[in-house]
Amino acid sequence: MDKSLVILGSQWGDEGKGKIVDLLTPQYDYVVRYQGGSNAGHTVIIGDRKYALHLIPSGILREGKKNLITNGVVVALDELIEEMERIRDVVGDFKDRLYISDRAHIVFPYHKILDGLSEKSKGNAKVGTTLKGIGPAYMSKYARTGIRMADLFDPPYFRERLENAMAEAKSIVEKVYGERFDLSVDQVYSDTMRMFEKVADLVADTSLMLDQALKKGEKVLFEGAQGTMLDIDMGTYPYVTSSNSSALGLCNGTGVSPKLIGQAEVLGVSKAYLTRVGAGPFPTELKDSVGDRLREKGKEYGTTTGRPRRCGWLDLVALRFAVRINGMDGLIITKLDVLDHFEEIKVAVAYEYEGQLIKEFPASLKVLEKCKPVYKTLKGWNSSTSGLKDRDSLPEQVWDFIKTVEEETSVPVVMLSTGPERSEYIWLR
Ligand code: GDP
Ligand code: IMO
Ligand code: MG
Repeated sequence: MDKSLVILGSQWGDEGKGKIVDLLTPQYDYVVRYQGGSNAGHTVIIGDRKYALHLIPSGILREGKKNLITNGVVVALDELIEEMERIRDVVGDFKDRLYISDRAHIVFPYHKILDGLSEKSKGNAKVGTTLKGIGPAYMSKYARTGIRMADLFDPPYFRERLENAMAEAKSIVEKVYGERFDLSVDQVYSDTMRMFEKVADLVADTSLMLDQALKKGEKVLFEGAQGTMLDIDMGTYPYVTSSNSSALGLCNGTGVSPKLIGQAEVLGVSKAYLTRVGAGPFPTELKDSVGDRLREKGKEYGTTTGRPRRCGWLDLVALRFAVRINGMDGLIITKLDVLDHFEEIKVAVAYEYEGQLIKEFPASLKVLEKCKPVYKTLKGWNSSTSGLKDRDSLPEQVWDFIKTVEEETSVPVVMLSTGPERSEYIWLR
């Protein structure tokens, strides 16, 4: 690993990115979260302790590394501070270990209210968001009414922007949704200033830091949140998140030139099967006992919201698409152990749409809804790979599974994860 590295979700999130980032961190100088916000829930398990990271990069648990929350992330200060407190005993002083971009936008309580009201008003068409205010915070950013970390260093300017933003939020809540708006500017202002004091000395120009680091030859691990299929441009729109959660978000999310970012290696993380939390199309979803079995064995309940995740077979049409748009150099397959005791394992290699075979992931939701997966059925290994660390003890059916994934996606599988704990993985390259 002599280059910087991008770790991305290849599916609809929760692929196990947190675990992978934590285990690879020792080889890098910086770990960077560059999009999304506390909608992310990245789990790291070390021994018998479990950490759920939402805003802070998953490199934070390793000493001597710089963790950056860059400009593309939307930051809820209350959640950031709570998260810092939860890991304070491991990290100690966050100074020189955590940096927050001065250009990062802030998620305010009114963004969360608007998220909830927008979802409620959509009825059956709701997205199933995490209700963390992510969409409305990005709306403020693009409407140019957002407030950034840098603004908080100038309290009168912050106050003026907050008054305007809250007047707008109040009018939307009351006039569009017909609900009461009880937040007071005084309260939000004083809460924000009080919280900001706790993190102000971590605020930095992370774009400049990264530019200098990369030019010096230091190595950066970019940690994607969500997954490619939730990308605002390339995902299953409108059932997506509000940021570019594919590699497309790297430049705008970090403020680093594509020339520098382009030198990094890109690895996609994919479960050996597939899950989705929230609404939206999912061609290989299993609404039967097989799906239930995947959910129970894989403990498929959301890290952020606790919601049961929808489960299904691995979709290689979607994975092929993720490999292409991200320029993935290889894949990391997680949760292999969850498939341990299945007689047979299916993977979708194409879709059937109105009698035609499709191999490219369609843009239209209407088309996707009618797509039926065309499966290749593989023999299960029907034995335990749980916690395996040695490639030579992998059953031959696992190699067949890997070969199918590699043939269909045209990239190598470089690592397998065989359990949630930090040490449970096998390098294949
Ligand atoms: P992320 O959002 O991509 O970081 O993934 P999450 O942390 O939301 O969800 C992945 C879940 O799977 C977490 O509970 C992890 O502890 C767990 N996990 C990660 N890798 C493995 C694995 O190889 N096997 C098993 N059984 N669990 C895993
Ligand atoms: P990590 O980083 C899985 C989903 C939500 C919803 C949609 C929009 O842990 O993989 P949002 O709150 O972002 O506006 O919700 O996106 N979603 C995720 N699903 N993992 C995540 O993050 C997710 N972050 C958002 O469930 O369908
Ligand atoms: Mg998650």
